Formats: sequence, structure tokens, C-alpha cells
Amino acid sequence: MVRFTETMKNRTILVTGGTGYIGSHTVVELQKQGYKVVIIDNLSNSKKNVVNSIKKITGVKPGFKNFDLCDFKKTQNFFKKNKNISAIIHFAAFKAVGESVEKPLDYYNNNLISLINILKCASEFRVNNFVFSSSCTVYGQPDKLPVSEGFPFSPANSPYGSTKQMCEEILRFSSDKININTISLRYFNPVGAHESSLIGELPNGTPNNLVPFITQTAIGKRKCLNVFGQNYNTPDGTCIRDYIHVVDLAKAHIKAVDYLYKDKNKSGYKVFNIGTGTGYSVLDIIKTFEEISEKKLNYKIVDKRKGDIEKIWANTKTANKELDWRAEKSLKEMLSSSWEWEKKINKKS
Ligand code: WQD
Repeated sequence: MVRFTETMKNRTILVTGGTGYIGSHTVVELQKQGYKVVIIDNLSNSKKNVVNSIKKITGVKPGFKNFDLCDFKKTQNFFKKNKNISAIIHFAAFKAVGESVEKPLDYYNNNLISLINILKCASEFRVNNFVFSSSCTVYGQPDKLPVSEGFPFSPANSPYGSTKQMCEEILRFSSDKININTISLRYFNPVGAHESSLIGELPNGTPNNLVPFITQTAIGKRKCLNVFGQNYNTPDGTCIRDYIHVVDLAKAHIKAVDYLYKDKNKSGYKVFNIGTGTGYSVLDIIKTFEEISEKKLNYKIVDKRKGDIEKIWANTKTANKELDWRAEKSLKEMLSSSWEWEKKINKKS
């Protein structure tokens, strides 16, 4: 059960996109820390019953409002009726790289307008603690590895990556002016699911991302995994990424909120890489998955995917030191939890 300490009681945190994959895991961790949480989500890429799953895990049902943050009036009315918000964690955004190439204007409109509206309200209603969900995509293909926060942005490879770069620039230039203290967390590759298997990744339709495609192939929902390219300049020729357990990622948001509360009455903008610092290739992931699932995965090598970068992994020293945060879960734990989740959601009810 969750205990609300005195200080926490009046600390309500708004989580936009809180029924989504990373958002729901973050709500669970916030409630475990005793924070009160209210979610705004337009359910464009998630399901309302995630709110009940969160309650099953923590015993506390978070507040929930279903509307689109691109509607400024509705967003402003929410803040008029919820004066006790003391911090905002902003996840709500479209986030599929491939889809963004097909629908660029939807991505610019949704991801930029929702951020601007929430910032306008944060300023008007004096909510001065703000955590933004950014992505390692902003780096493009770094010249050097591991990649550090001070590295320059490379030209974005997709409208999705471009919106993340623009959102960071909006925050960098406006935080001080509108007197909010902001942290951007640059996620590497989130994978895995909560140990309860009550929440996890729920891709709409065919998964864009590697790990859900692997688990759906292993469970028989997909015939074969396509490995996008094996002639990159990497040890086994396949792309390298820094995969991080979604619960480790969620815990980084707690540390970011705690940091902002301690850093109170300041305004400004800080960025942190949230990864493990270790890179794994696509074939490493397949091999490890076969070990933990004891299943042979059916895959084939095909052409490279447009927009993919070759390799990236994080320098996490700043987050380790300044946020006192470090990823703890292993690749096996990440993939085992994804596999347990896939089996759970495919169990014949
Ligand atoms: C990982 C590797 C693919 C699918 C994107 C976003 C990032 C974040 C995570 C939001 C790549 C290969 C994949 C498949 C494959 N998004 N792959 N076959 O593209 O690194 O990152 O998603 O939080 O911001 O940029 O993740 O999982 O799609 O791909 O071979 O069916 O797996 O080529 O090398 P990506 P991914």
C-alpha cells in the first residue's frame, strides 16, 4: 500500500500521457513514493483501463482526465479546477519514427502545440517544476561514443526526432522567461514491463520497435522478425542501441522531480541522458532473448531501414552524479519482463 507522507499530501503531480507505456510505469513509481498523481491523456495511443491496472499495482487510483492538450481552452480549464498541481511530467506526444515520416504535419502540430499549451498554463498557474520526455534521437548519429549531453544535435532523421529537437529548444529559450524550472530527460531505448505484468508496452498494430516485434514473433503473432541490415560498421554488422528497462527509466523521473523540488524557486533548463551506458546489437538482443525464453526466434536479414542510425549509447555520468540515479536492471531482466508481459496479454482469458 502507498503511504502519503505530510509533505507529499499537497504535492500533486500532473502526468500528461500517463496511460502510455513510460507514463504508466512512472505513475506507479510516483505513487510508490507517496506523490498524488493526476493523468491527462487523449487515449490516442493507450487504453483507459491502464488506470485500473495502476490501481491494482499500488492500491491507489490516480486522477484521470481524457482530453487533448492541443485544445488550449480545455487545458486551461483543467488548471483552473486543479490548483494544487506542483509539478508536471509531460509525456503526451506522438512517438513512432516511421509514422512521423508518413504524417509529418500531424507530428509537428500535436507535439509542438501540446507542449506550448501546457507551458502557457504552467506559467499562468505558477506550476514551476517541469520534466520533459525527450529522446536520444535528438543526437542523430553522434561522431563520438558514448554520447554526452553537451554534444550538438545532428540534423534530425525524422519529423519525430525534429519535434523532440524543437521542443527542447522551446524549453531552453522559454523556461527562464516563464519562470519554470525544467529538466529534459533524453531516453535511450525503453524496453521491458512492470514485474506484475499488469502494465507494459501496447503497440498499436504492427510494432515499429524491435523488442515488441521479437516477443510477438516468439508468441506466434508475427511470422518472422526482419533484421534491418547486417552491413553496418559494428562488430556483428547490426545496429547498436542503449536499451534501458522502463522501470529504471520511470525511476529517473522520480529523481528529476525530487531534484526540482530541492532546487526550488530557481528557473532554468537542464538535460540528462537516461540510458545504461552499454550498447547492444540487434543480434545480441535476439541471442539474449532466445536464452531467456528458451525459444528459437525466426528472423531474417533484410535491407537497412531508412532513418536508422548505426550506433548510439549514453554517457550517463551527469544523471548518475546530479540526479543520484543509475540504471540497475540487466538486459536479461529487460527481455524476461517483456516476454512475461507478451505471454500475459496473449493468455486466452
Ligand atoms: C532498434 C534497432 C532497428 C525493428 C526509436 C526512437 C526512439 C524511441 C525508441 C520513443 C534498430 C532494429 C527494429 C525491427 C529491426 N522512441 N529493428 N527490426 O529506432 O532505435 O528508436 O524507438 O521513445 O526515440 O528513435 O528503436 O526498436 O525501432 O530499433 O532490426 O522489426 O532494432 O533497425 O537498429 P530505435 P527500434
